[in-house]
Amino acid sequence: MAFFKPSLLFCSLLTLLSLNYGPYHVFAKVFMVVMEDDPVISHKTSQKKLLRGEEAQKYKEMTTTKHDIFLDSFLPVGSFKKLYSYTHLLNGFALHAESEEAVKILSGAKGVRLIQEDIKMAKMTTYTPRYIGATGVWSLLGGAENSGDGIVIGMIDTGIDPKNPSFVSTSGQAKPPPASFKGTCHTGDRFPPDSCNGKIVGARWFARAGQATGEFNATVHYASPYDPDGHGSHTASIAAGNFHTPAISRGYNFGHASGVAPGVHLAIYKAAYSFGGYMSDVIAAVDQAVEDGVNIISLSMAPTSVTTWPASFLNLLETQLLLATKAGVSVVQAVGNGGPDANSVVSFSPWITSVGASTTDRKYNKSIITGNGQVFSCGGLSPSTPGETMYPLALADDVSVANSTDGSSNCQDPNIFVRSLVQGKVIVCMFVSSNYYEGDSLAGIIDTIQKIGAAGVVITDRYSGDVDIEYQPTFPTTIPSAIVLNGVDTQALLEYYDNNSVRDDEGSVTTFGATIRILEGRRASYTREAPVVTDYSSRGPDVDNVQMQAADVLKPNVMAPGQHIWGAWSPTSDAMAEFHGENYALLSGTSMATPHVAGVVALIRQRHPKWSPAMVMSAIMTTADVTDRSGRPLMARRDEGVIERATPFDMGAGAINAARAVDPGLVFDARYRDYLQFLCAVPGVDEAAVLRAVGAPCPSSRARWCSDLNTPSVTVASLVGSRRVDRRLTSVGAENETYMAYVQAPDGVAVRVSPDVFTVAPGATATLRIVLNTTAPGNAFSFGEVVLKGDKKHSVRIPLAVYPAAVLGP
Ligand SMILES: *[C@@H]1O[C@H](CO)[C@@H](O)[C@H](O)[C@H]1NC(C)=O
Ligand SMILES: *[C@@H]1O[C@H](CO)[C@@H](O)[C@H](O)[C@H]1NC(C)=O
Ligand SMILES: *[C@@H]1O[C@H](CO)[C@@H](O)[C@H](O)[C@H]1NC(C)=O
Ligand SMILES: *[C@@H]1O[C@H](CO)[C@@H](O)[C@H](O)[C@H]1NC(C)=O
Ligand SMILES: *[C@@H]1O[C@H](CO)[C@@H](O)[C@H](O)[C@H]1NC(C)=O
Ligand SMILES: *[C@@H]1O[C@H](CO)[C@@H](O)[C@H](O)[C@H]1NC(C)=O
Repeated sequence: MAFFKPSLLFCSLLTLLSLNYGPYHVFAKVFMVVMEDDPVISHKTSQKKLLRGEEAQKYKEMTTTKHDIFLDSFLPVGSFKKLYSYTHLLNGFALHAESEEAVKILSGAKGVRLIQEDIKMAKMTTYTPRYIGATGVWSLLGGAENSGDGIVIGMIDTGIDPKNPSFVSTSGQAKPPPASFKGTCHTGDRFPPDSCNGKIVGARWFARAGQATGEFNATVHYASPYDPDGHGSHTASIAAGNFHTPAISRGYNFGHASGVAPGVHLAIYKAAYSFGGYMSDVIAAVDQAVEDGVNIISLSMAPTSVTTWPASFLNLLETQLLLATKAGVSVVQAVGNGGPDANSVVSFSPWITSVGASTTDRKYNKSIITGNGQVFSCGGLSPSTPGETMYPLALADDVSVANSTDGSSNCQDPNIFVRSLVQGKVIVCMFVSSNYYEGDSLAGIIDTIQKIGAAGVVITDRYSGDVDIEYQPTFPTTIPSAIVLNGVDTQALLEYYDNNSVRDDEGSVTTFGATIRILEGRRASYTREAPVVTDYSSRGPDVDNVQMQAADVLKPNVMAPGQHIWGAWSPTSDAMAEFHGENYALLSGTSMATPHVAGVVALIRQRHPKWSPAMVMSAIMTTADVTDRSGRPLMARRDEGVIERATPFDMGAGAINAARAVDPGLVFDARYRDYLQFLCAVPGVDEAAVLRAVGAPCPSSRARWCSDLNTPSVTVASLVGSRRVDRRLTSVGAENETYMAYVQAPDGVAVRVSPDVFTVAPGATATLRIVLNTTAPGNAFSFGEVVLKGDKKHSVRIPLAVYPAAVLGP
């Protein structure tokens, strides 16, 4: 189908335009400035203790005041506006400056460590109807009723609709948030004081960059945590929506929705809007979320471009998320919707769990049957045409006024139809996807058909080729609908129609001889051939820098359901006309996959409160599935609908398996120091760059390669000769377990693992040495795995992604 897919390039162009030529401040820009002084989390008292409680509050206030004094002393009054002071994870501020001059002055000022221009962020949901489909996923993660109580997920998104059934307090008695959580509830328009009801325990909003650029409009975007968009409510309900809430849309109950961890508390940080979001607002949200004491950050947003020199990992948001990880917060982020092209990931760093999107096992199959016995499959979550009767079929052009100029076939205007001709007929409307952005919409077609009182509608797209049903748009309608017939089927239907229509000399149809029946389409069926990596899910390899040099880091990390997901929706939202007025909607994207993983992280952290973020990520990755329920390897959808075996660059370690992830047997831990060593090993990054970006020097014991980081995967972007990769494993099992290593070497690479049999006691660690040798150089990555099988039933899978570049080293 020829639906328009926004490219990353296009988005970054938009970013530049909106920053440079914003409507209100022609030359003004937003900058983030990081100071050399400590933020709250790393500042130590004279007794070398970290700050707590009142001390931390005092330091925060002092830091904020220092920022103001600093700015006043360097910049002319009235030439700038400070938008935020960042104090918790970062010591710095966001600045809206009238001219470039301010940046020049500040970059030379003593005490400034780093200045980064604000960049735009995007929600990782596809709003085009291309991916609107239907299914539910709540059964996939079996442990859902294991609630996640006591864990707080910070959702950095478009806000939340507190009145949605997925978030209302079910017991009527609000559960108190965990004692460690210190967040508050900002009230305001459509966000009354009772919005924080025990399920929602904190809510704030961040829009100062959007306000500074003039894009924020309180009438449209609400100066409160209320979600006018729907995206934030949707993602929050996936992670933590109430258990067993009917997902009703267009008057039909499509099943019961439950969050992955229905007992989890939600802290809402609204920082995304219909115009996107700004990194400076998102950074303020992350800073606050960590200060408030969230356990997990779920981020279904990412920058629209790679902009930071000298490394993607040193982008201000990435380094801030490293500090969040250091503070014990698990960070889960959408890997991006830029697939299936290689190098399309927009979530880069090894401390972030980057999530790709798959299909689910639930399918809806709508069929239409024509009078000559042809059956076509399509979308359309609608009832059938009444009875067993066949209904006459009519092209929109043949039942509308002759003088309707550029065709009535797009069915956007009810007034051009001849009422007497449409009665009792099923109308064929053309959906021209390129007109979608000119206001034509599928919802507009449904509205027209309803208004003219036809028996039903078949929406066709003759340009779409042979697209399978999974990728056909579909959404609920109360009238019988078939949405959208692909190009091949459209040709067949039109031929049948032409053969059976009698026309007069002027071309008007006098006899409508073609007939059709639309079958019921709202009942789900289940397939075993799932999950499949969606085509839009961003692909590895991860990149070191803007030159798109492949990095020794596996991205995505893991895959979760993202295609055709039911979740909570804001009825006031105009983001998708197909769901206007509804409390539940179907969305697709890596945005939807991300909160599934955040929910599983909550379950693991509830079970294992002492685990570090890296241990939790390791548990999720080493236990992920790489086969479907029939035992066949997972597949990935690529360009032109080609389906091929999925590689780690499509699916990361595989499809998340919550039940196994809570009991992984072994974990690969990594802490702040390990990540610093990693950063110091990034090609093209020197000690000064790391110091500038994170404010910490390289550790004295240096890692040679980025592949030395203790991750549950091995990625070598250029294997010249041989490389040794050591991994430190910690047993989290309850008893001594003996593991055997099974290796499947990537093509062109010899792999030796030692020891190949080892026993670890609970809590003990073991070192695994993996030696990779190039045996046959190639011109692409090849993939393999090391699987550690324990005698107590644990199985720990480590994906290998290696580019065998040359046999001999220099
Ligand atoms: C804000 O949006 C409302 C509703 O669309 C519009 O009427 C108003 O003019 C907008 N205000 C600004 C300042 O753009
Ligand atoms: C959908 O249903 C039709 C009619 O029942 C059937 O012929 C077709 O094979 C089904 N398609 C899928 C993908 O299940
Ligand atoms: C079609 O022509 C009739 C008579 O001239 C006119 O009343 C009507 O508005 C026209 N309709 C359109 C859609 O142009
Ligand atoms: C339409 O008519 C043509 C010519 O008679 C015939 O070849 C074709 O098979 C018919 N197609 C359908 C769908 O009835
Ligand atoms: C586990 O191994 C250790 C040392 O190898 C041994 O002392 C201990 O008794 C073992 N524990 C169990 C439960 O077998
Ligand atoms: C890899 O190469 C090294 C040095 O050339 C050699 O000692 C080692 O045995 C090789 N290992 C494998 C698994 O081929």
